[in-house]
Amino acid sequence: MNLKGRSFLTLKDFSAEEINGLVELAAELKAKKKQGITGNSLKGKNIALIFEKPSTRTRCAFTIGCVDEGGHPEYLGKDDIQLGHKESVEDTARVLGRMFDGIEFRGFHQSTVETLAKYSGVPVWNGLTDEYHPTQILADFLTLKEQFGKLKGLKLVFVGDGRNNMANSLMIGCTKIGVDFAILAPEELWPEEELVSLCREYAKEAGSSLTISAKADIVKDADAVYTDVWCSMGEEDKAAERVALLRPYQVNQELMQKTGKDASIFLHCLPAVKGNEVTEEIFDRFADVVFDEAENRMHTIKAVMVATLGE
Ligand code: CP
Ligand code: NVA
Repeated sequence: MNLKGRSFLTLKDFSAEEINGLVELAAELKAKKKQGITGNSLKGKNIALIFEKPSTRTRCAFTIGCVDEGGHPEYLGKDDIQLGHKESVEDTARVLGRMFDGIEFRGFHQSTVETLAKYSGVPVWNGLTDEYHPTQILADFLTLKEQFGKLKGLKLVFVGDGRNNMANSLMIGCTKIGVDFAILAPEELWPEEELVSLCREYAKEAGSSLTISAKADIVKDADAVYTDVWCSMGEEDKAAERVALLRPYQVNQELMQKTGKDASIFLHCLPAVKGNEVTEEIFDRFADVVFDEAENRMHTIKAVMVATLGE
C-alpha cells in the first residue's frame, strides 16, 4: 500500500485493500504504543487542524497522533482564522499549503475539504463534514477486527438517521470491504439514491449485501448494531422533528435481542445522547467496546497521517 501524498476526503477514493491496509497499520501502531514505542515519521512536519465544528475525539486524535510521530500540530478554530470571514477557501488553502505539510479539516461542506485539497498542494484529511466522516470508519473497523478477528463476512446494522455523515461513510466503507451492511431508518431519513446505487456496485464487487429498511427485522444476524445522534452538528433546529421520527428506532434491549446472536456488539461514534438513540442500559453494557472504539480514533488517524505524509 502506497498512499504517500494522497488526501483522505472520502472512502470512495480508497480501495478495499487500502482501507484494510490502513486498519492494519493502525493495529501495528497501537501495539507499539502499548509497549511505549512511538515513532518519528512526522518529524519536522507541521500539521494544521481546522475546526469549524466542535470536537473532542477527532481533535485529540490528530493532536496526539501527530505528536507521537514527532510532528507539530496547530489548532485553528473557526474564530481564529480568516477562513469563511475575510478569505476564500482557495486562498486559505494556498497560504496554509505554503506553511504546513498536512491539513485536517472539520466543518460543514464537503466542498470545503475538497477545495482545500485542490489548492493547498499538501495532503488534506477530512475530520468530518455534513456528508462524510471517513476517519471514524477506520476506528470502527479496527474495533470490529479486535472483537471478531475479521471484517469480511460480518454484518453491521446502522440504526437512526440513515442519511447522515456516519450512515453515508459506513455504507461506503462496509460495502467496499465486504461487510454486509444495513440501514434501519424511517423512509424520510434514507440515504440519497445516487450514493446507494454507487454502494450497491461496491457491494457487488466485494460480495457483500446492502439493505435499507424501516423494519426492525433487518437487525437479525447482526454482529454489530451501530447508532449515532439523531441530530448532527448544525441540525439542532430539527431536534423535535427528529425525536418524533426516530423514537421507535432507539437501540434498546428489545432491538439488540432481535439480532438473535449472543455475541452481537453495540457501537457508537460518540458523543451519545443516552435516552434518545440508545438506552443507558445498552450503552453501559457495551461501554468497554465503545470506548475502545473512541481510543481507536487516535491509532487510526495516526495511521492515516503516517501513510499519507510519514517518512
Ligand atoms: N466521533 C467523533 O468524531 O467525535 P468528536 O466529535 O468528539 O470528534
Ligand atoms: N453525525 C454526527 C457525528 C458526530 C461524530 C454529527 O455530525 O454531529
